Amino acid sequence: MVEFSDIKGFTFDLDGVITDTAKFHEQAWHDLATQIGVTWSDDLGSQLKGISRMDSLNMILSAGGQQNKYSDDEKLTFTAQKNTHYVELIQGITPADILPGVTAFLSELKSGGYIASIASASKNAPKILEKLGITDNFVGIVDPATLSHGKPDPEIFTKAGDILKLDPNQIIGLEDASAGVEAIKASGQTALGIGLAAKSASPQLWVASTAEISLANIAAGMRNNL
Ligand code: BG6
Ligand code: MG
Repeated sequence: MVEFSDIKGFTFDLDGVITDTAKFHEQAWHDLATQIGVTWSDDLGSQLKGISRMDSLNMILSAGGQQNKYSDDEKLTFTAQKNTHYVELIQGITPADILPGVTAFLSELKSGGYIASIASASKNAPKILEKLGITDNFVGIVDPATLSHGKPDPEIFTKAGDILKLDPNQIIGLEDASAGVEAIKASGQTALGIGLAAKSASPQLWVASTAEISLANIAAGMRNNL
């Protein structure tokens, strides 16, 4: 059984864990869905959390019964259009957009000698970390272009663990998406789920919001739950 004293590192999702870029992804997809005549729902929006760009488009097309309507080239045009819109929406991000509790937690990790890496499906992750001014808090970032499978496959968390050069049982992964929690658990790392969408995938540790993330809370959670 994993104990708090085993933990040496953390693998972080980005969107919805470090900053609320999830709302910008949702807005950009919502606008594209409307443009191509797919009815948007909050449920569809939450299913897209953590899902790669092309997989997200395919889910939107399926939700609208349009899964066979477009060629691969047309789909690439749609994803490029969504990304251009998304990049516009994130232009104004500053360190003030780091979610509550995250800056304090990253400082705790640094002073406690823990290491961290980024397991985000987003190709925009390096740019966002730079805008937030926290690139140096992470040993490295998994390049999503190198992945064969998206979340809930464990590949991205396994690679984020490899960056840390730690075993899965020495790592806690942080996620706000149910697909992400499934991926962490399948990688053998311990999942810390954040918020309601993450709860549905039964993470070993859970907090309602990022404001509750601290080493003391994690240690207490591991004593009680694992
Ligand atoms: C994930 C987001 O982190 O990255 C998804 O939760 C997004 O909503 C995915 O689709 C891919 O991001 P990007 O920036 O490469 O389109
Ligand atoms: Mg997320």
